[in-house]
This record gives sequence, C-alpha cells and structure tokens, in this order.
Amino acid sequence: MKVVSPQEVAKHNTKDDIWVIIHGKVYDLTQFLPEHPGGQKIILKYAGQDATSAFEPIHPPDIIDRFLSPEVCMGEIDAAALGAVEKVESEEDKKIRLARENMPRLDEMYNTFDFESVAKTVLKPDAWAYYSSGSDDEITMRENHNAFHRIWLRPRVMVDVAKIDMSTSMLGTKVNMPLYITATALGKLGHPDGEKVLTRAANKRNVIQMIPTLASCSFDEIVDTKGADQTQWLQLYVNSDRAVTKKFVEHAEKRGIKGLFITADAPQLGRREKDMRQKYTNEAPEEMDDSKMTRDAGAARAISSFIDPALNWKDVAWFKQITKMPIIIKGIQTPEDAVLAAKHGCQGVVLSNHGGRQLDFAPSAIEILPEVMDALRAEGLDKNFEVYIDGGIRRGSDIFKALALGAKGVGIGRPFLFAMSSYGDAGVERLLELYQNELEMCMRLMGAPTINDITRDMVDIRNLKDHFVANPTDYLASGAYERMQPRGLLSKL
Ligand code: LAC
Repeated sequence: MKVVSPQEVAKHNTKDDIWVIIHGKVYDLTQFLPEHPGGQKIILKYAGQDATSAFEPIHPPDIIDRFLSPEVCMGEIDAAALGAVEKVESEEDKKIRLARENMPRLDEMYNTFDFESVAKTVLKPDAWAYYSSGSDDEITMRENHNAFHRIWLRPRVMVDVAKIDMSTSMLGTKVNMPLYITATALGKLGHPDGEKVLTRAANKRNVIQMIPTLASCSFDEIVDTKGADQTQWLQLYVNSDRAVTKKFVEHAEKRGIKGLFITADAPQLGRREKDMRQKYTNEAPEEMDDSKMTRDAGAARAISSFIDPALNWKDVAWFKQITKMPIIIKGIQTPEDAVLAAKHGCQGVVLSNHGGRQLDFAPSAIEILPEVMDALRAEGLDKNFEVYIDGGIRRGSDIFKALALGAKGVGIGRPFLFAMSSYGDAGVERLLELYQNELEMCMRLMGAPTINDITRDMVDIRNLKDHFVANPTDYLASGAYERMQPRGLLSKL
C-alpha cells in the first residue's frame, strides 16, 4: 500500500477535496461527504487530519469496508512522520490529563457517586454531556433516584442472618446477584475498549450484560469477548427496514444471546439539552448550508435515525416467528402495557423510562412497580413472567426495595459507564463489589438471608406516589427566574 505523508493529507482540506486519516489509513471522502449520515460538519472538522478519535466511538470497525469502495483509500499514513508532527496539548486536554493523574485510589471509592464525581472530571465534555444528560428539565432523571427515598424499610430482627445468599436466576441464567449491566450506547466515548470492559467485568462477577444496539464496539467483538459460560442479552432498536432487524436478531440468536429486549420507549429520542449544547459549541464553524442536518440534537440523534417509530404490539407476533429467544419489552411505563406485554406472549418487561432520557415527567419504574405487579396478579399473568426495573438504582438498599416490590432483578446503566470511564475494568469490578457488599448488609439488617425472604411487607410505600414529598429542584427555571421583592428590599439590591 502506498505511504502518504501527513503534509500531503493536510493539503486536501476543503469540502471539494477532502482527505482524512482513520486508523492509519488515508481516505478521500470528497464524494462521500454529502452522504455521511452524521452530517458533513464533523468530517469537515477533521479535513486533512487524523479523524480516528472522532470516528472510533460512534462507528463499528467494519463500517468503512462495508460502505466505501476500495478506491477511496489513498494509502497508509507515514506513521513516523505523523508522530513527529508536534502535538500541542489544548487547555481542555491538559485539565483532563491532570484530573486523571490525580484520581483517588480505587480503594478510596465507596459508592456510585464517588465514581460519577471522578468521571465528571476525566471525561471529555462531549462524553460527559452525552452520558449524564436527561431529557428536558431532567425532572424524571432525578426523580428516578429520588423515588427510592420515599420508600422506607421495615426491618425484621432475631432472624439467623449468619449466611447471606443473594444468588438468583434471570431468564434461566443463574447469577451471583439480582442485577445486570444494562444497555448504554457509545461505550468508547468513555474508554478505548468500550463495551468490552463491561463484558469482562460482568464475567468476573457473574452478572449478565445487556449488549446495546448502538454500541461503539461491533456486536461480534462484544460477544467474542465473553467468557465460556457467560450470559449476554441484546437490547434491540428496531430498524424501519425489518430485513436488517431480522438479520441482526437471527445472528444474535446464533451467537448465543439469551434474551431479546426490544426497546419501546424511544420512537424518537428525547431532547437532552446538555448534549445538544455541547455538540453545538464543539463543532468548527464553517460556511456550508446545514439546514438539512439534524446535528443540533447531539450524538444520539445523529446515529439513531433508523429507529422505527411504527413499532407496535402487532410486531410481537413477527418477532416470535423469527426467534426462539425470550422476548422482553423494555420501556414499559404503565400497568396496562405490562399486562399487554404478557398477553402478547412476551416473557417479561423492563419497567423503564430510559434513564430519564426520553419523556420528562414519565414516572419512575420503582413507583409503578407495585401497581404493575398487582395488575399482572389480578389477571393471573404473573407466573413465568419476569419483571425488571431500571433507573436511579444507586444503592444496595434500592435493589432490596425493588425486589421487595416484585422485581426479579434490576438494570444499572450510567454508574457502570462512570466506573469504566475512570478506572476501566477494575472500576466496574469494584462497583459491582460495592453493590454486592451493600446488598449483603441490607439483607442482613433486614432479616432476609435469601432472595426469597425479601417480601413486600418489608417496605413501607405509603408515600411512594406522593411527589410533593421530594420533588427534584427545577434548577433551570429557578436560575432564570427573577425573584419578586418587597419595595424595602428592592432598593438595597
Ligand atoms: C440514548 C439512546 C441511544 O438514550 O439509547 O442515548
């Protein structure tokens, strides 16, 4: 392959003649530029330069071979010369480097929020914005966590709690504890190994990982990373082109995936303004007409326009025809829909509002869990039907509360991204260990030595539906609002 110098690449830096370097190869993207699904701006930003760091987090590795003809590859970059091109460290990179150098020792990290606080300092602003954001005023995102604070415990004493066994099974897989690592997109924004970090840690601690459709690593890479007996599930975004979905589902089944979690709460992605603002300021200004682009909505929208908003209950029958994997609907937000999922022959549901990233003012999963269980029981649909919840689970006691109210297990998302982004494999393993320790202590102090001993009468949910008890603060509105003052005070302002 021809060797190209960085100086040569740098000459091709306009929209009529644009070369970029990706993974050590030089590509002429002039023809492809108007067709790029993520818009032209992002490619133009790297005109004549190495675009690997922007490319990698949001594209599977084989995408270039699949979509571009071999002629656009101009050769290999002269790696030695590229290394010699002096790199000036930006202020932002310097801040992150120093934060990484000064991270607390891992054994000083004691809870989810320790990891979140460190991740905030070591992640690039666009990654932090994408991972941490919720929709609109982020009321639901914060409510997800707050709702647990409205459930109090009723501990039983004088029970033999010398041994605590929190092992359980989920969709037939025996696991060490009743939690799974749920699907979150774009893992490489946080760690160069992306979702594979989560696979390895899940294997070490014997918990299930749910693979996201919008992973940074390719599906096969993630499956190839798993241990011999490790169970993985798949989170599915249904494509408007059902042939693509069929192929993916059949492939997943062949590769041994043990559960198909169809996402139902995202026919359109929510407005996450932190993400949107971050994207706007990060893009290089340039003169082209961008009126047809959808880049104003951040990374998620750019990569997810394929999601089919027409997905509906009738499709369940089709899925049952194309796969034998258990089908679980993820994103159920009312008892009515949980009952419908059971009636359509699904094996379970995940009560979820997508981490507060979709409909603001959707209820938290923990709030609707008791009504969902009652509704299923009333219709005799609660047998052989597994109910999971996700959203806001940050403590072992939160897991306990969910189980007491009828959940088979809980999904945890962002906390593992934060642990992965700051400390990699060891961080995710440590966080799993912390959850295990917290849940063990909670079970012991509650007088519940096994999962079966965790019962509904152990929680007091009288205030669960009372949102006035602990409404999250509306920071945006209160920050903008000018407080009225009596005349006497006004003159002193
Ligand atoms: C998100 C999608 C991509 O919430 O799941 O960002």
